[in-house]
Amino acid sequence: MCGSRSATSANRAALDLATDRIRQASGAIRDVTIDRIPMFHPDLVDDPPDPVATMHAVLQAADGVMIAAPEYAGGLAGATKNALDWSVGSASLYHRPVAVLSAGTTGGGFAIEQLVRTLSWQGALVVATLGISAPRTKSDANGRFTDPATVASIERWADDLVEAISMNPAARLERVTHVVVPFGIDAARFGELT
Ligand SMILES: Cc1cc2nc3c(=O)[nH]c(=O)nc-3n(C[C@H](O)[C@H](O)[C@H](O)COP(=O)(O)O)c2cc1C
Repeated sequence: MCGSRSATSANRAALDLATDRIRQASGAIRDVTIDRIPMFHPDLVDDPPDPVATMHAVLQAADGVMIAAPEYAGGLAGATKNALDWSVGSASLYHRPVAVLSAGTTGGGFAIEQLVRTLSWQGALVVATLGISAPRTKSDANGRFTDPATVASIERWADDLVEAISMNPAARLERVTHVVVPFGIDAARFGELT
């Protein structure tokens, strides 16, 4: 799931790299398009508009989810939060391993914090986070990441998701705890994993 529509999006470039990495590990990728997700409407959660129903279906079928979103004005890009608000009622992210990333000027710390919180609030298991600062200095003229350390960190981020998917429930809970506790989230909220 990409939270930027920019043609030269750094977050999309990071997802492209991670996607290549996961395909190398024989994983199949589905894109979750949020461009046409309307403003969240609490009265429609049981019969959501088509783009929302499609998003739910893709998320529900996924072994794991990668989300890369910009930070705008000190917070998570609004369209991403709006899409995630729709997923609360469907429980489509409940106990699903999720890796979150934000590429942006200052490294997306506020966006990552908000992603971790809102995902944890709906029972998603955030198993990896990554912030990439000053992405334009780490990429070529087409926006593709070229800085070796950044490329390696994105690949490790994707690998962490794949690894978490294949873990037993106890190990996965340990991984989630390690990731979310620094954000002030009590891992007890996830209950027992199966
Ligand atoms: C409206 C707007 C607000 C922004 N606010 C922030 C911010 O609060 N923190 C930050 O680090 N970068 C901020 N940026 C810069 C973005 O991080 C940068 O443009 C980033 O590359 C956006 O992601 P994208 O390339 O995937 O579209 C902002 C950019 C825009 C357009």
